[in-house]
Amino acid sequence: MNTLLLHCRPGFEGEACAEISEYAAALQVTGFARGKPASAYAEFVCSEADGAQRLMHGLRFNQLIFIRQWARGGWLALPEQDRISVLLEALQDYPCAGSLWLEVFDSNAGKELSNFCKKFEAPLRKALLKAGRLLEDAHKPRLLLSFKSGREVFVGLAEASNCALWPMGIPRLKFPREAPSRSTLKLEEAWHTFIPREQWDERLSGEMTGVDLGAAPGGWTYQLVRRGMLVTAIDNGPMAESLMDTGLVQHLMVDGFTWTPRQPVDWMVCDIVEKPARTAAMVERWIGEGHCREAVVNLKLPMKQRYAEVRRLLERLQEGFAARKLKVSIACKQLYHDREEVTCHLRRLGR
Ligand SMILES: C[S@@+](CC[C@H](N)C(=O)[O-])C[C@H]1O[C@@H](n2cnc3c(N)ncnc32)[C@H](O)[C@@H]1O
Repeated sequence: MNTLLLHCRPGFEGEACAEISEYAAALQVTGFARGKPASAYAEFVCSEADGAQRLMHGLRFNQLIFIRQWARGGWLALPEQDRISVLLEALQDYPCAGSLWLEVFDSNAGKELSNFCKKFEAPLRKALLKAGRLLEDAHKPRLLLSFKSGREVFVGLAEASNCALWPMGIPRLKFPREAPSRSTLKLEEAWHTFIPREQWDERLSGEMTGVDLGAAPGGWTYQLVRRGMLVTAIDNGPMAESLMDTGLVQHLMVDGFTWTPRQPVDWMVCDIVEKPARTAAMVERWIGEGHCREAVVNLKLPMKQRYAEVRRLLERLQEGFAARKLKVSIACKQLYHDREEVTCHLRRLGR
């Protein structure tokens, strides 16, 4: 139980290691991080038996940027036949679980294993319920079984209120056929990630106004329009006719980095491919000068030192708002629909 397993986007194992190592040092949890390139997971192996639990208790899952899912536990070898008996025996060392998720890693090997997991889940669930190891209780920890192959599984636990919202941290979002581009799912995932569902009516209401910087062809604008908002779409490129026909979109062919609205708006979103420092400075100005209350912006990642650079930009944003004496909540995550980028959500609090 002394290992913390961390799911991440393949190719970002180094970032997951850097991130968890920084927090482990701050929480004085000793151990080492390791991650095989392209495996889509990393591990933090703690020197002490309760290290992984202390790390999870000392951190909120939401504050992690490159880590999509986590679980404390250990690896278990499985036989070709009767895997369930071996799992049941290993679970004697674990507390009873309140829910069960079977997971694979976001790699090609993982994709091939998902069918196995689908078939294995029902008989395993039945056996766990029968043995009293699974109680269907939201207050008990979630049992997360991450399969590396049919013969190797990480048996892990996480608090249901302090882990990913979806198995493997991957939301199953349906691409809306009317949306003009696939990146529409990025903004939809950002909302699911950063805004609790019960607050959507209030914080994403049809009474609101929004600005979409770098809007063409309109995947993000589509999401704002879908909520009923009046949107100013900024881009030199053409917007989809279907969006313009709604009558809710004003398209301005101007520079998204210098234009600001005459009246404050509720939302600003930005998906322009630019140096991340420039995008961060722009969103600081928008929120800081009161041009918008909430924002979702994409920060494109540099080639090297990706974790260090994101942390540096987030710190700079925090310092900027502190200097302006403003309270702003800042969250940042590499979403499933993000590639070489992370998504930031900012919200001005108070007046
Ligand atoms: C990744 S695309 C945006 C895709 C859009 N979010 C969607 O869902 O359809 C980036 C857009 O930013 C625009 N762009 C680049 N630099 C810009 C600038 N300085 N001001 C406004 N738009 C800009 C490009 O023309 C391009 O259409």
